[in-house]
Formats: sequence, structure tokens, C-alpha cells
Amino acid sequence: MKKLFFPFIFLILSLIYTGCYYDSNEALFGKPDSAAVVCDTTVTNFTAQVKPILQSYCYSCHANAYAAGSGSGIKLENYADVKIYADNGKLMGSIQHLSGYSAMPKGGGSLSSCDIKIIKSWITRGKLNN
Ligand code: HEC
Repeated sequence: MKKLFFPFIFLILSLIYTGCYYDSNEALFGKPDSAAVVCDTTVTNFTAQVKPILQSYCYSCHANAYAAGSGSGIKLENYADVKIYADNGKLMGSIQHLSGYSAMPKGGGSLSSCDIKIIKSWITRGKLNN
């Protein structure tokens, strides 16, 4: 029985160790989520939930100050401007890389699946201005 004690302890310890292995969102999905690690899709808030994503990945070209020079005149800083592209389908089309739309963020891969879900959820929940 004593002979089995150490292998047994070793087995338990290695199970505990591998059980704690943490898959980071960044490693799994590319770009890190701007929101929490748990993907919250009950999104109704433009300022707190949608805007930070646009700020991180889109404002380098689509902020009011840069839109004319780098963003083809498309502004995504103010609610009213974002709503135009949410309404005409171009916002979702571009971040989902659908055919017929210009894939965004331009030259920068894709948003994380959680960030895409957050924007989609805000749209389906009424595109609130808050
Ligand atoms: C490097 C600059 C750059 C970045 C970053 C960028 N865009 Fe764009 N975006 C452009 C340009 C330039 C166009 C004009 C179309 C083209 O050249 O592909 C455009 C076009 C668009 C369009 C219109 C698409 C269409 O098919 O008509 C939308 C919507 C858009 N961008 C949203 C976004 C969003 C959302 C992000 C962030 C996730 C983003 N863009 C990031 C430069 C950028």
C-alpha cells in the first residue's frame, strides 16, 4: 500500500494543477474582449457597453477628428452617427465580415466574438441612446 501512496498523491496533484489551467480569451478568440471575460449579451447601454468597443478598435479611423482623413468620412463617435450604420446594416455587415460589406476593423483582423455579440445585442434590443 505504501508503494502506491506517492504515485497516488502525484496523480491527485497533477489533476488539480491541470484543472486550474486558464484559457485566456485573447488566446482563444484573437482580440481581447473590451467587456468582461464573461460575455454579457443583455446589452442595452450605448455609452457603457458599445462605445468602449468602437473606441478601442474603430476610433483610430472613425472618430470625428479622423473620419475625413482615414475613415472615408464615416463617423462612429456620436450616437446619432452610429445609429445610421446600425440602421442600414453596414455596422453588423462590416464587423461580421459579410459579403457586400467592407470588413472592419480595416486591416486589423476581426473583433472578438463577444464584442460582435455585444453590438448585435444592443441593436436587437432597440439601439438605445443612453
Ligand atoms: C484603419 C482605419 C479603419 C479602422 C480601424 C476601421 N475602419 Fe471602418 N472604414 C475605413 C475605411 C477607409 C472605410 C471605407 C471603405 C473601405 O475603404 O473599405 C471604412 C468603412 C466602414 C463602414 C462602411 C462599410 C461598408 O461596407 O459600406 C463601416 C460600417 C465601418 N467602416 C465600421 C467600422 C467599425 C465598426 C470599425 C471598428 C470595429 C472600423 N470601421 C474600423 C477605415 C477603418
